[in-house]
Amino acid sequence: MSLTTIETPSTEAEVEKEAERLLVKLMHVECDTRHSWNIETCRSIAPLTLEINALKEEKEAVILAHSYVEPEIVYGVADFSGDSYMLSMRAKEAQAKKIVFSGVVFMAETAKILSPNAEVVVPDRNSGCSLADSLTGEQLRELKAAYPDAGVVCYINSTAEVKAECDVCVTSSNVYKIVAAMPQKRILFVPDRLMADNIRVEMTKMGIEKEIISSDGTCIVHDQFDPNLITESRDKFPGLKVVSHPECTLDITSESDFVGSTGNMMNYVKETEAPYFMMLTECGLVERIEVESPEKRFISGCKLCPYMKMNSLEKIRDVLIAPKPRQIIELDETLRLRAHKAINRMFEMS
Ligand code: 13P
Ligand code: SF4
Repeated sequence: MSLTTIETPSTEAEVEKEAERLLVKLMHVECDTRHSWNIETCRSIAPLTLEINALKEEKEAVILAHSYVEPEIVYGVADFSGDSYMLSMRAKEAQAKKIVFSGVVFMAETAKILSPNAEVVVPDRNSGCSLADSLTGEQLRELKAAYPDAGVVCYINSTAEVKAECDVCVTSSNVYKIVAAMPQKRILFVPDRLMADNIRVEMTKMGIEKEIISSDGTCIVHDQFDPNLITESRDKFPGLKVVSHPECTLDITSESDFVGSTGNMMNYVKETEAPYFMMLTECGLVERIEVESPEKRFISGCKLCPYMKMNSLEKIRDVLIAPKPRQIIELDETLRLRAHKAINRMFEMS
């Protein structure tokens, strides 16, 4: 993010009040190595957050932000922030004319599937996801032909085209419950190979017999963590709790104290007494907990998602004023309805 002051009609007093509002939240962010938050840096973005919040009203828009995006978006302009499941619920319930999805493209597509009458826009069309980009609808059709008896389950980190080919969609907050409840013994789970490894282990723990077949996608953020870091850190920081996401390798999840969706990770840290936490996930989540539970202490370990970090206040302002055609999510109606069925089944089974 560039901390530039924009030309704005806001008065000095309005900017000062907005800067103070932002500071109350952002002053707790320690994990952010890109800049430190103080009254000066809050003042420099205040005209922009004021402008975005006024535009939101004028355009009858809501801003949905994943917890991984920059904290000035989450606390400055977002109406709702959370994990993929929570945000898909909010998109479903949104009565807005316009939804600005500050996250990655597959999340905005999911919002469009659930809220077809809203104009759904993304701040940056290049904000992909290594998981969603790893599998096409055509490749999934080939896999389905090879395993015709399998129940087809897709992780929400997939394209609308892939969702349209599935029996049910899942998020990291309901994946084990839904896979366990599938009537078929054989499950084709796409596109996350590492989450498939975690599902196999969980099904065994639950005493449920399933054969999990997967495609070969991984998250470029969560597949990078080194298990040696856990061992070394436990020696240095007695009482440390390690928290990870099910997109991580088994080497990481098997050594973690808690594994869950970003929403559940956040709840776990808030509810758990420990001298230190290490979050093996995207750094935006650490920043969120720093703001909401400033008494918690973290040791380094998180990594940045380059796609989530393509979101910025400037791009949100610009897309609210005049979206470029590429920034507007459009879906073929037949495909949308098929993808909708898979997501609705997730809501029923969650
Ligand atoms: P959550 O659904 O847990 O928020 O995960 C989304 C994601 O992209 C994690 O990398
Ligand atoms: Fe995709 Fe990984 Fe980024 Fe999540 S963190 S959006 S799974 S690339």
